[in-house]
Amino acid sequence: MPKTSISEIKTFARELTINFSKKKKIIPSKFHYDFLGSIYFDKITKTKEYYVTNSEIEILRKISKQINQLFGNKLTYVEFGSGAIDKIKILLSSKVKFYIPLDISLDFIKKESKKLLKIFPKLKISPTYCDYTNYVKLSNKIPGIKVGFFLGSSIGNFYNNGEINFLKNAKKTLGKNSYLIIGVDLKKDKSIFKKAYNDPSNSAAKFNLNLITRMNTELNTNLAIKDFEYVSNYNNRKGAVESFIQSKKKQTIFINKKKFIFQKGEYIQTEISNKFTIKSFSNLANNTGWKVIKSWKDKRKYYSIFLLQS
Ligand SMILES: C[S@@+](CC[C@H](N)C(=O)[O-])C[C@H]1O[C@@H](n2cnc3c(N)ncnc32)[C@H](O)[C@@H]1O
Repeated sequence: MPKTSISEIKTFARELTINFSKKKKIIPSKFHYDFLGSIYFDKITKTKEYYVTNSEIEILRKISKQINQLFGNKLTYVEFGSGAIDKIKILLSSKVKFYIPLDISLDFIKKESKKLLKIFPKLKISPTYCDYTNYVKLSNKIPGIKVGFFLGSSIGNFYNNGEINFLKNAKKTLGKNSYLIIGVDLKKDKSIFKKAYNDPSNSAAKFNLNLITRMNTELNTNLAIKDFEYVSNYNNRKGAVESFIQSKKKQTIFINKKKFIFQKGEYIQTEISNKFTIKSFSNLANNTGWKVIKSWKDKRKYYSIFLLQS
């Protein structure tokens, strides 16, 4: 299993120290994705209940021809938080010369890039480590139009309006005359969320509880998975699915010699997944300097993909 780098471990320790000092403890969701976490996430995407992936694939299959016609011969796909290759491979054709997957889980996207190269042997792939919440400096030598790709409902995973920051930075990263294809999860009956985030194979639970394993391995905490429970609910007021690990007993940990206590019953938030309407996302895009060109929905109307222009 590939190991996390020293600098990533330092970032993990620093950000947990800050977030565990707050009244409501949070583990930012980017820390889910060590190598094992990326594998667990991939398992979630394969569950029947996790409609996000099925819906995105259905829409991408429907629109791939249109998208290919729109961009012509020369373009470079820049995928934010690329993860597995299942979605980009639907849009790729022999016309595309260059693909830049950007992700915090570098070993995982290197492995995926090798798989993609077997399907498109002439494609130049440049897997790049980054934290996409920041502006990412891309090479000046990228050919053609830059088309950003941001799927997996990740635009919903920001706290405190971080999606505004992301969209502004993505525009700066992609530069003038660029596009962004973005997956947006829609508000719907909450029973659908309940099933998706509490799948019977416990993939979502394993993905979230992997944070305990990661803390033990990288920060030398001595926690047991059995002492936590995964909990996920739709919060009507926020219009968001919120996921937590709940401490089943009082427990103490040290990070950077600083002491933190998890009280019995305390919730530590591990993810927020904000849901949108076509109107609310269009407003968000417009307010961050993007122009909405088009949006598509899947047959069940659970999900949408937007095409934005800078
Ligand atoms: C919800 S998954 C989506 C994966 C894939 N794009 C899909 O649609 O199935 C989020 C992806 O973004 C990556 N990621 C999460 N936070 C990130 C960050 N702050 N910077 C860069 N990559 C990040 C994760 O490693 C993971 O591959």
